[in-house]
Amino acid sequence: MAKLKSKWVCQNCGYETAKYLGKCPDCGQWNTLVEEVFDSSSESLAVKKAVMNDIKPCLINEIEIDNTIRFSTGIEEFDRVLGGGLVQGSIVLIAGDPGIGKSTILLQTGKSICQNGRKALYVSAEESASQVKLRSKRLGVQSDSLYVYSQTNFEAIKRQIDEIKPEVLIIDSIQAVYSETITSSPGSVSQIRECTNILMDIAKNKNITVVVVGHVTKEGNIAGPKVLEHMVDTVIYFEGDRYKSYRMLRCMKNRFGTTNEVGVFNMCDDGLHEISNPSELFLHERTKNVTPGSVVIATNEGTRPLLIEIQALVGTTPYPSPRRVSNGIDYNRLLQILAVLEKRVGLNLSKQDVYVNVIGGLEIDEPAADLGVALAVTTCARDVVVSPDTVIVGEIGLSGEIRAVNNLDKRIKEAEKLGFKKIIIPKSSNLKKEDFKNIQIVEVEKLIDSISACVYKEDSK
Ligand SMILES: Nc1ncnc2c1ncn2[C@@H]1O[C@H](COP(=O)(O)OP(=O)(O)OP(=O)(O)O)[C@@H](O)[C@H]1O
Ligand SMILES: [Mg+2]
Ligand SMILES: [Zn+2]
Repeated sequence: MAKLKSKWVCQNCGYETAKYLGKCPDCGQWNTLVEEVFDSSSESLAVKKAVMNDIKPCLINEIEIDNTIRFSTGIEEFDRVLGGGLVQGSIVLIAGDPGIGKSTILLQTGKSICQNGRKALYVSAEESASQVKLRSKRLGVQSDSLYVYSQTNFEAIKRQIDEIKPEVLIIDSIQAVYSETITSSPGSVSQIRECTNILMDIAKNKNITVVVVGHVTKEGNIAGPKVLEHMVDTVIYFEGDRYKSYRMLRCMKNRFGTTNEVGVFNMCDDGLHEISNPSELFLHERTKNVTPGSVVIATNEGTRPLLIEIQALVGTTPYPSPRRVSNGIDYNRLLQILAVLEKRVGLNLSKQDVYVNVIGGLEIDEPAADLGVALAVTTCARDVVVSPDTVIVGEIGLSGEIRAVNNLDKRIKEAEKLGFKKIIIPKSSNLKKEDFKNIQIVEVEKLIDSISACVYKEDSK
């Protein structure tokens, strides 16, 4: 006899309690507790217990390392984000907004994995097999070893895994599949947790690499409990502007590699194309006759430098207190830079609205962009122009000093590669300037010096 029990589960954080509560004591949200009935004698509990029982502690010196076997996804940008490829027996979560292209990238990945002689099973829980076929036709995906299975029932999926024995399993998406052992609806915290548990079992015991698609809530978090992120080995966000064609893979957690890598793609009719030189993509719209308030900075995305344009607009405010708007950089960081500009450079912004925008909808979270922001604001306020072949790098300290940034040589190389003639950098003692023949390197120590170093002409008024 199945033993049915019920519990109340917070759909926001996964908190469990035996009775109903209006407010979740864990995350503080109201009306998020939902009753979920589960079968306490379910198979998965038995499996988990069995697995747990035959493991004994052993000495760390005696543990043998089973080589982590990595294999390429066939997509270089994806491999980079994963830290060199998919690890056998690991579980990867790819999360992203609706329609961003999660199914697209996984179908393309499935294809290229199968090209390397592996067997993959693509479980489409949201779309019918013919819908997947339609997409695969558009993407030019053909394969003799890529199976497509349109199914939401987890027990059925498990049977097919045993039958087909794939090396890679793709679940699109975890919110749409459900296990019969739990009565709550698909997408609920208990279902997600249970299904991920089973998937972990499959990955570790059968040595299958599992790639799972996760939806993102309005706030940008992965739908379902935070535990989902703890359970999987790798968490990757797939992001981008829905109205622009480029997409980015960004690693948030990786048990098998670094987390600071990004992969850049272009979304076209025939699928996602890798972009190995993203700087060109982000700069190609830049006009030759630059306007006041536009500068190019060299930022770091993972181990790769990226040149992007920052624009500022400064104008007299019609309001009693001026507005500050920042898109792509931290708001408080902008306020700090403006304060330093007022105090150390003497730029009066108290009656001025300031808007700062990072072109391409990118988010920059490193302080090396400070100097670029400051110069964009200054040039716009003073109606002067930064020479269009100049790149700017540097962090600004509160006393107006320019502070060192990491990976300076990589940033300079990228600027040189893209044909920039001048780069403004923080004073650095261990930089080999003779390595860079085609770019003029200007070192600055103070914010006020950097302004005269890069402004090249007064705009005719
Ligand atoms: N010819 C086309 N037909 C349909 N979609 C296209 C076409 N060309 C490009 N696309 C892109 O493909 C995207 C849909 O990709 P995909 O279905 O992989 O997204 P998803 O993240 O899986 O979405 P969902 O959250 O609905 O599962 C569209 O938003 C669009 O940007
Ligand atoms: Mg999809
Ligand atoms: Zn909660």
